[in-house]
Amino acid sequence: MKTSRIVSLLVLVAALAGSILAIAGHAGAEKISLGAKTIAPPSPVWLICSYDAEGKPNMMTASWAGIVCSKPPCVAVSLREATYTFGNIKAHEAYTVNIPSEKLAAVSAYTGVVSGRDVDKFAATGLTAVKSDLVDAPYIEECELVLECRLIKTVELGLHTIFIGEIIDVKADESILGENGSPDPEKHRPFIWSIGGYGFYGLGGHIGSVGELAKKYLE
Ligand SMILES: Cc1cc2nc3c(=O)[nH]c(=O)nc-3n(C[C@H](O)[C@H](O)[C@H](O)COP(=O)(O)O)c2cc1C
Repeated sequence: MKTSRIVSLLVLVAALAGSILAIAGHAGAEKISLGAKTIAPPSPVWLICSYDAEGKPNMMTASWAGIVCSKPPCVAVSLREATYTFGNIKAHEAYTVNIPSEKLAAVSAYTGVVSGRDVDKFAATGLTAVKSDLVDAPYIEECELVLECRLIKTVELGLHTIFIGEIIDVKADESILGENGSPDPEKHRPFIWSIGGYGFYGLGGHIGSVGELAKKYLE
């Protein structure tokens, strides 16, 4: 048998084996391992406000953060010890979570690359620090949604320490509230950060209510 015919035969056998494997359940594309990394999109973009030892207000950007308990209502923010905010929150046992809208995107980028140790970020951005009546921390007047938190627990993990705060109050500008009294994402326009150099992304729009979407499989 000629070499070219043997090669063609081998190619045919390989193609057939591939088809059989695909039919047997390997039809999906294989996933690529990205390794043990902090990839879990979408990550929020929050501005964490605190007072330093002299009572100077500071804000920093945090994305390793989220709601962690409904009762009592709690949030968690993971901070590196190197941040100025870390010591501030430990000393005052309080912080505020300010959830910026897209119009504060440039501020949110800036407050994530400079430290309150070196600059007064409120003075640099022209934003207004308001003293919270409920916790020993400032919040940002220009931010439409603010959570006032009392530190209740810290959990050291490694590079980051989790600061768990009980939400004492949530304050919102009326302009972002929907008819049901809750913040309407279309009016508020919060945004996310995507790891891997993608930067900040806005929300894409309403997909559907949970009740309506779940119906497809409930019925
Ligand atoms: C989008 C974004 C998200 C960030 N998320 C975190 C975070 O979750 N935890 C953290 O320790 N640092 C985070 N950083 C880095 C801090 O914001 C940065 O170190 C900042 O300078 C700390 O400010 P401070 O020293 O005034 O506290 C983030 C930065 C950016 C730009």
